[in-house]
This record gives sequence, structure tokens and C-alpha cells, in this order.
Amino acid sequence: MKSANQIRQEFIDYFVSKGHTKVLSSPVIPLDDPTLLFTNAGMNQFKDIFLGTGKREYTRAVNSQKVIRAGGKHNDLDEVGKDSYHHSFFEMLGNWSFGDYYKKEAIEWAWDLLTNVWKLPIDKLFATVYTTDDEAFELWKSITSIDNSRISRHGEKDNFWSMGDTGPCGPCSEIHYDRGEEYCNLKNVPGHVCAVNGDCDRIIEIWNLVFIQFNRDQDGKLIDLPAKHVDTGMGFERICQILQGQDSNYHIDIFKDIISFIEKISSVKYSADENGTPHRVIADHARALLFSISDGGMPSNEGRGYVIRRILRRASRFGNKLGLNEPFIYKVVEKVAEVMGGEFSEIKTHLTHAQKIIKAEEVSFLKTLSKGIELFNKIALDMTEKKISVVDGETVFKLYDTFGFPVDLTEQMAEEIGYTIDSQGFEIAMNKQKDQSRSNQKFKNTEETNWIELNDSIFTEFIGYTTLECTSEIVKYSIDDKFLRIIPAVSCLYAESGGQVADKGSIELNGTKLIVRDVQKDGEYFVIKTDLSKEPINIIKDTQLKMTVDKIFRKNVRANHSSAHLLQSAIKQVLGDHIAQAGSYVDDQGFRFDYSHYDKLSDEQLRDIEVIVNGYVKDNYVINTEVLPFDVAKKQNITALFGEKYGDMVRVIRMGDASAELCGGTHAERTGDIGYFKILTESSIAAGIRRIEAATGQKAVEKALFHKSIVESIKDSMSVKEHQIIERIDKLNDDKRELERNINDLNEQIALSQVAELINKKISINGINVISALVKVNDNRILKTVAENIRSTMSMGIILLGADIGGKAALVCAVTDDLKDKIKAGQIIGQIAKMVGGGGGGAPHLATAGGKDVSKLKEAIESVKGMLS
Ligand code: ALA
Repeated sequence: MKSANQIRQEFIDYFVSKGHTKVLSSPVIPLDDPTLLFTNAGMNQFKDIFLGTGKREYTRAVNSQKVIRAGGKHNDLDEVGKDSYHHSFFEMLGNWSFGDYYKKEAIEWAWDLLTNVWKLPIDKLFATVYTTDDEAFELWKSITSIDNSRISRHGEKDNFWSMGDTGPCGPCSEIHYDRGEEYCNLKNVPGHVCAVNGDCDRIIEIWNLVFIQFNRDQDGKLIDLPAKHVDTGMGFERICQILQGQDSNYHIDIFKDIISFIEKISSVKYSADENGTPHRVIADHARALLFSISDGGMPSNEGRGYVIRRILRRASRFGNKLGLNEPFIYKVVEKVAEVMGGEFSEIKTHLTHAQKIIKAEEVSFLKTLSKGIELFNKIALDMTEKKISVVDGETVFKLYDTFGFPVDLTEQMAEEIGYTIDSQGFEIAMNKQKDQSRSNQKFKNTEETNWIELNDSIFTEFIGYTTLECTSEIVKYSIDDKFLRIIPAVSCLYAESGGQVADKGSIELNGTKLIVRDVQKDGEYFVIKTDLSKEPINIIKDTQLKMTVDKIFRKNVRANHSSAHLLQSAIKQVLGDHIAQAGSYVDDQGFRFDYSHYDKLSDEQLRDIEVIVNGYVKDNYVINTEVLPFDVAKKQNITALFGEKYGDMVRVIRMGDASAELCGGTHAERTGDIGYFKILTESSIAAGIRRIEAATGQKAVEKALFHKSIVESIKDSMSVKEHQIIERIDKLNDDKRELERNINDLNEQIALSQVAELINKKISINGINVISALVKVNDNRILKTVAENIRSTMSMGIILLGADIGGKAALVCAVTDDLKDKIKAGQIIGQIAKMVGGGGGGAPHLATAGGKDVSKLKEAIESVKGMLS
């Protein structure tokens, strides 16, 4: 039997032999594409080429892409585990042509690989084309050996592929495989006929050949792309199923070990029928979790983080069905890393980090779950009281959404107590939320721009690492009522990217100088934005754009960016290699650096980090830039940003032994240029993500001087030497505590000295001894003590005391033991408290209350006498 690894390799080798370049899978977390929750197809990393804003050195590519379809346009999550072929995470084998070959070769090679190399029987294959795609239909007929009766036309739903609501799209041609009659799960349904794109599980799609030729814009309009492309995708697990002669994707070699491991930890045997659903769900979801977190994802309450959270909760719930009631997913992912880490080394590198996050999330979900059960019990009680027996849709949705309760669990719990749930109401609530998130997810389009094109170039070359003044021809420009935007062919102005702020500086056009407001990337272009010029500028094809970078600004940014690298290296030394960068922002004032870690840093760790970085500064390493292939860089010990998309050549910034990191930013020449490094703050910005803010050079010195001035004023006001400050503050705190204790004791003594006098105020009403009085005390505890003291000297007595404590009315009522069965302190205080605009309660022998209205205190106290007579 061919292993999955062999099958993957054969696919790649086949297309390499047809002139394709093997490219790496891009991360499953597409940090630079806000239209996408997860990488949902192999073509995502080539979107810019299709749209005509980017280019590569090759025009044919092949790879196996990591894909997650669990949110957004392509969402299969709820199906996963129930059948043999749905996944949240899977690999997609793909080959691409960028304006190179088109339909003919795509069809010819797909057929050749399937039938000649992999020797799939011709009479098990079907081909489909888009309704109007005569060209593809004819090609299938003329260049392959497929029987004409096995080619069919289908509509938009099946044979027109789009990446998302907007973006590249086009008609497609699919290849389907007939697994045999025994796979039909609808045999018993009257009138059912097995068919391509039919309802049963017998004939499955294995390969989709998309002929990309349009871009779908915001309004859903299809716009012709500058060139035609091929984008194919084959479900890797599906083709492995077929080539390994299995009946389910979950039974191929890659899944076998993971499922055996789940059997081992749960002691529940796997079975291929529906009893095996939990095993399949857990195996699938463990893969999705490990891959997404390794690529920089993080469970959270929104966007892709929320999907990751849902995947984890679903796995946890299915674990529960196997009796796994303690965190366990973090163990399963270790198995995943063992099985798949050979092809995808990132899941080995980031395993410890991912395990920590997964375990913490499991612990917190298990807590949420038991809170959810508590909530359900309360709801059930309430329903019983109100004689309702259907759990309403909003409630079912709340349990699902907030507590991760799958609907079937709520249904099951309801059934246990003889109730049902409103499934329709749940659907409505669910759709409401989906609409909401869909509208939140819409592509954040940059402002509409009417470009005027002057010169040909499909990218802007950045030459500003070494040059701070340059001249370029203009590719396009646009003018609206506020700004002038220019895209140059080359730029020495840095466009914001990789966490580094855009350069400040100026441009000059036909002798008119304009201040640069911003420089942003748009695909592979740099867009320079400036205010409008007062004089009209005649921008024509030959107009030269002169750019000047603000040197001081750039110098400070460079020092800050380099120290951010040094900081990352120092944090790793102090905390361990598991920490990973979660974001950063560098400007001329300083920088912030976000990283994954669960605990707050101690003062000592912060000090150590600062010492290490300043040590590197003092070592004055030369900062070197090297451009090398990503594959080579990957093999060396180089820090790569989670989820960053690298082209095939990458830039490595090396600082002696201190740091080596992939980075496209601008850096100092030597670490000594940083001068001095100082951490300003350390904080938490989200669960598991911490942030350090720091400054360098002059800014850091200013901060240190500020701290020094604080120390100086403390020294002056306390008349101590610097080394005595801490000791003195500790002593002052001790003294203060001692004084407070003394004052409390004195207050209590003063209050208790009133006791004898109060006892003298005793009157008798209907055989009950009553003392009611206002007293002078300054805290509630003492008021209670006074009442208790009097109570211990009396029989058949009620004591009601009031006091003005800090402008508020305080009341206490005490009843002696021989009376408390008849008259309860709580009842008396309840009524009295109302008079001072408050409330309270307590035990039958002692109760307290408070109220706002001090002016009514005396009257309230006196009223007890009336109550008793
Ligand atoms: N991009 C196409 C798909 O995902 C190949 O099906």
C-alpha cells in the first residue's frame, strides 16, 4: 500500500516534471487577508497574482496546502465526524498556471495522473463542466479517454468556484469517483438514483479544476481579469482513501495512529459506524487545533479565534461522550505532531506552545460546561414553575453560543426531564448571529480610488534600506478632494508593514514639495499619500517623483526595530523557546512587542531581560542582512514570525550571536546604535498574550531620568539616602498599620463606655425591656459589639441602636435569647430600616441595616416603642 507521504510526493513530482515549481504551503492563518478567516484553498497565497497586483518568478506552481474550512464561505464544521469525508482541517493538493497554460493542459494532466500514473479505472471516473463551458466539454471529449456519457454539465452551485464573496473566481470542471454501490447510504429511499453531485455518499468529488478568469467585486459584478489562470484542488485525504483502498478518509494511514491513540486514552474501541463519530471528531479537530495555533491562531471570542474555540469545544464535548472528562486534547495533538511533523515541521516547533494554550482552554471550557449545566438546571426549574415544557430557541442558542453546548446535548438534557426544545427558534437565533458575523467580516475595502495609469509596472521596488533619497517614474496616481496618492515604480519611503510604521518624509513633483502623510502597501504596490498641492501639478507619463525620507525619524525607527529583535531573543532566553511573537508595532518613539505566554513577568525576569538586551547593545554586533531561499532559512535556527507569508526568497537579519530573524524592516547598522534600551511597561492584552513596551536611545534615557527625579524627590521629602528608601517605606507602612490598630481599640473603648449609660435608658413596654438610642461610633463592627454587650446583661429585652457613620444611617437590633422565638431582630430591623430609606436583615437575635437618610434616624429608633405597645 502506498503511504500518504508517497502519494503527496508523487503528485508534486508529476507536476514538477511538467515545469511546475514546488512552493511551500502558506500558513492556515492568513494574517494579511481580512476577507478570509482561514486559508480555505491552495490559491489563497496567489490571490495577488490572479488580481494582477503581484508576480512570482515562476508561472507554474504545485504544492500541498494546509486548509481549514470551518468558518466563512466554506464551512463544514458541523458535518465533521458524521461521515467518512468531511474535515475541518485537510490538505489540498494543487497545481497552478499563472497566465500560462489553460484548460487543455489542466484537463490532460489531471487525467494522465489519475489514469496512467495512479491507474484509477476509467469506468469509475466522471467529469463535470459548467453549463456554458463548451470548450471544457469538448476537451474532455477529445483529449481524454473518458466515455462521453460520463461528462455532464452543471450550474453555478457545483461548477463555478469563488474564493469568497469577493475575489478571483471562474467556471470549474470537476472529477468525481464512483466508490461502488455499497457506499450508497440512501438505498432504501424510494426513487433514489446514485448520481454525480447527487445526494448519496457513493460518487465523490476528488479534484476541482478551476479556470480563474474573473474578479467578483463588492457589488457581486464579475470583472474580467487581465489574464486567465488555472487553479486546481484535490482533497488529499480523499485521494489517499481511494489509492489506499479504504472506505473512509479516516481510515488512511495518517489517521490510524491518531485514532488508536484516542482509543488508548479513552479505553473506547473505535468503530467505523456512528459510534466512531467521537473518535473521528477528535482526530480531525486535534489536527485543526495544532495547525491553526502553530500558525499563530489563538482561541478567543471573535473572528477566527472564535472558530478555533468552537473547534476545541466540539472536540472536548465529543471527548466527554467517550468518558474523557479531564483535559485530553493537548495529549492528542502530540500524536498529530508525531504523525505529520515530518512534512510540516512547524507543528513540531510550536508543539509545546500549542499544548499549553489547548490545555488552558480545555480547563476553562470544562468549567464553563459545568456552569452551563447549572444554568440549564435553573432554566428548567423556572420552566417547571411557569408550567412551560419547551426550551425556547434563544435559550438553546445562548447555551450553544456562550457555553458551547451542542444543540443535541441541550435536547438530551431537556428530554431527560420530559421537555423538548424549539429547534426552529434556535435556527432563527443562529441565523441572526451568522448574518451579524457575515456583515462584520466583509472585506474592509480601502477607499475607492480612481487611478490614472501612466506607466507599466506591477509592483513597487523598495530601495530604501540604504538610500534615503530617490527618484522614480510614476505607475499611477489619483486625486480626490483630500489627498493625492501616487504609486511609484521604486520607493525609498518604507510602506507600513511587518509591524513597522510608514516612513515620514516628503516628495517633490515638478518643483512642488509635499509632506508625506502615509505610505501603505496595496498588493505589491506602495501607495504614497500626501496633502493636495495648492498649485496645480501637471502629472504626466514622464513626470519624475522625488522622494526624501526624514532621516532622524528613520534612524530612531531603525534602532527601535533592531531592539525589538533583541528583546524577542532575550525573552526566549528568560522564558523559554515556547514564546512566539503575536504582533508588534515599531515607530520612532519606541515599540511594543506582543508574545504568547501565560504568566505575568516578575520584576526579576524583566530586569534580566533588560540586562541581556543592554548587554547585546554593548557588544556592538554588526547587523547583517542576508537574502536567501526560505527553505534554507527554515533549516537554520532563525526566528520566523507566526503566520507570516514569505515568498521564496527571504531576508534574514542577523545580529552576531544575539539574534537571527526573518524580517523585511529597516535596521540599525550595529547594535551599539541603540545606545540604551529600557522597558516601559509589561501587561496582558488578551488571554495568553502579553505585551512589553520599550524605548531606546534618547527616549530611554529620558525615561530613566524621569525615574531618577522621582527618587530624588522621595529622598528629599523623607530625608533619607537612596539605599534607605525601601526600608523607610516599609517602616512607614508598619507604623501606619500599628496606628490604625490603636485607633480602633480606642474607638471601641469609647463606644463601650456608653454601655452603662445606655442600660440606664431601659424602659419596659408590655413586660419587654426596651433600649433604643442613638450612639456615637464610627464603624459598624463597633456598633454591633455595643449591642451585643448590652444584650448579654439583659433578659426579655430588645436593643435598638442607631448611629451616623460617615453620613449614612446604621442600625442594629439585638433580641435576648428568651424572647427571640417570639420577636425576631430581623423583622424589627426590616421595618425600621425602611424609615431611613434602606434595608437589612440577619439572625433572630441580631440584625443590622443601613440607610441613606440620617435625618430620620432618631424618629426611626423611637418608633420601636410604638411598634411594641
Ligand atoms: N480553489 C479550488 C478549490 O478549492 C481548486 O476547490
